[in-house]
Amino acid sequence: MDQNRRLFLGAMGGLALGSTLTGTGIAFAKDNPPAAAAEAKPQRFAQMGGDFSWKYQKLDPAESAMVAYEGYWHKGYGCGYGVYYGIVGMLAEKFGAPYNTFPFSIFEMFKGGMSDWGTICGALAGASAAIFTFFPRKQANPMVSELFRWYEKTAFPIFDPKEAANPKGFKGALPTSVSNSVLCHISVSRWAYTTKLGANSKERSERCGRITADVCMKAIEILNAKLDAGMDWKGALPKQESVVQCGACHGKGKMTDTLKGNMGCDSCHSGSEATMDKFHDHPKM
Ligand code: HEC
Ligand code: HEC
Repeated sequence: MDQNRRLFLGAMGGLALGSTLTGTGIAFAKDNPPAAAAEAKPQRFAQMGGDFSWKYQKLDPAESAMVAYEGYWHKGYGCGYGVYYGIVGMLAEKFGAPYNTFPFSIFEMFKGGMSDWGTICGALAGASAAIFTFFPRKQANPMVSELFRWYEKTAFPIFDPKEAANPKGFKGALPTSVSNSVLCHISVSRWAYTTKLGANSKERSERCGRITADVCMKAIEILNAKLDAGMDWKGALPKQESVVQCGACHGKGKMTDTLKGNMGCDSCHSGSEATMDKFHDHPKM
């Protein structure tokens, strides 16, 4: 027998990696699989339960919003972790397996718009990951679009933990701003500029904690509606005006095939003061 490494598919749904040396008469195994465990040759790209086998179950948006807010502060794991935990973590708390086998801390990566790079808002990334935990692209994309369009046009933050505000954050009302963008960089910088509160202030941390709750809540509303409507679910928000306007000529089969994406075009291509040249004669004090 030349196969001395085998993958055993645990009967309980857990994947145990066993290692057996045959021919030498020596056998050892790190996590010794139960003798009765079904033995299976690992198949490339196959995953336990099949693709998208985890099923979403209805959650209470208000309950999860508070948990998402707390998740944001938990060990400083941040927005993506908070939102994902507010969804899949809550399913784990309520229903156990398989949801409780997910390594939630992976989503610390979304903090600061992906390892502090300010790209996609981590709360949106966490929510999208949660949506894709249950639904494949054709069903998930419209849900993600609904969430992102809502985010672009909403004045954040909305959620207010009141007395339950985290001691590391800030207690009290916070000023809001509309980012017109799904990017962490634009969302945070715009808020910091318009409110005159620092991008590295306690208030800004608190703002993002509250947005974590807002995004989690909205994502759960979308997921719950999807569960009710099934294949008939449709988002309520239309394509952004700028995307329609610019997309008339930019796109596949259009006048010029030079466009990727669905972000609103105005935040970057409007020639606003903020998007003009800052490498010369700047700042004008
Ligand atoms: C009437 C058709 C049309 C519409 C509407 C349109 N574009 Fe264009 N756009 C073009 C064409 C054609 C080009 C040239 C492409 C080339 O040179 O290959 C172009 C080029 C561009 C370029 C690169 C060159 C440059 O001038 O900077 C950008 C950026 C751009 N468009 C952004 C936009 C945005 C943002 C909108 C929406 C506000 C928009 N376009 C709407 C037709 C259009
Ligand atoms: C987050 C900011 C941002 C958003 C949102 C955005 N763009 Fe851009 N876009 C850019 C930047 C930056 C470039 C590269 C510009 C350069 O080459 O100097 C670019 C490049 C382009 C180009 C290629 C032209 C070139 O000169 O490189 C086109 C066409 C374009 N964008 C159209 C659009 C349209 C249409 C939308 C909306 C559907 C949109 N963009 C949304 C920032 C953005």
